[in-house]
Amino acid sequence: MASGRRPLIAANWKMNGLKADGVALAQAVAARAKSAGATLAGEVLVSPPATLIDAVSAAIAGTPVLLGGQDCHAQTSGAFTGDISAAMLKDLGASHVILGHSERRTLHGETDAQVSAKVAAARAAGLVAIVCVGETEAQRDSGDTIAVIVGQIDGSIPAGATVAEIVVAYEPVWAIGTGRTPTLAEIVEVHQAIRARLASRIPGGDAIRILYGGSVKPSNAVEVLALADVDGALVGGASLKAEDFWAIVSALPQA
Ligand code: 13P
Repeated sequence: MASGRRPLIAANWKMNGLKADGVALAQAVAARAKSAGATLAGEVLVSPPATLIDAVSAAIAGTPVLLGGQDCHAQTSGAFTGDISAAMLKDLGASHVILGHSERRTLHGETDAQVSAKVAAARAAGLVAIVCVGETEAQRDSGDTIAVIVGQIDGSIPAGATVAEIVVAYEPVWAIGTGRTPTLAEIVEVHQAIRARLASRIPGGDAIRILYGGSVKPSNAVEVLALADVDGALVGGASLKAEDFWAIVSALPQA
């Protein structure tokens, strides 16, 4: 992270939390961020389930904590029962939206083309898209990791996207929620491949932040976040406890 890229630690709460839990968690993170103030070594973002976005937005108001959605629809409005638009997220104070998470790709059959359309919608609404990519265990075992990731990058980021509009999260599917993580060398290999691809597709694309996600926890955050090509983390399970999440934020190297 010696690069000038401002690190980002992003929480993905997934489908967890009723109102009281979510507000308490947001308040606990916000209080820590507020007292860290200028010593914060990066940006901190929470992505609650859609039902809690409004309440969490109020809970973090006036603190450095940023707000993200976990998904959005590709269209701006209309007959899409159960969906929410990028503008709706923005309206509640979100600045970011996670798109193409492996759980959406696997459980909802989202394709690269659909993710790309959502990224375009996020751009149009003024949201930064956190675009997730990652290989399955079978793809890694068959030596296809880099080809899969490059294909996802090409397919999921629309032409014309600019550096300020995109964050990429590398989340190996087999490392999500499993406690298993790639080796540091494997993380570096993939992040470098992503960086090279972004640089070749987007003007100034090597400045796009690339987060690592998949079983990030306090015990491995220091070594992962110290890697030069890792610009932060996307954290699932460990983001549901303020102490654990904050231990990960605190593992960021000081600039
Ligand atoms: P875990 O941190 O629980 O492995 O989840 C990672 C993830 O999917 C974040 O988006």
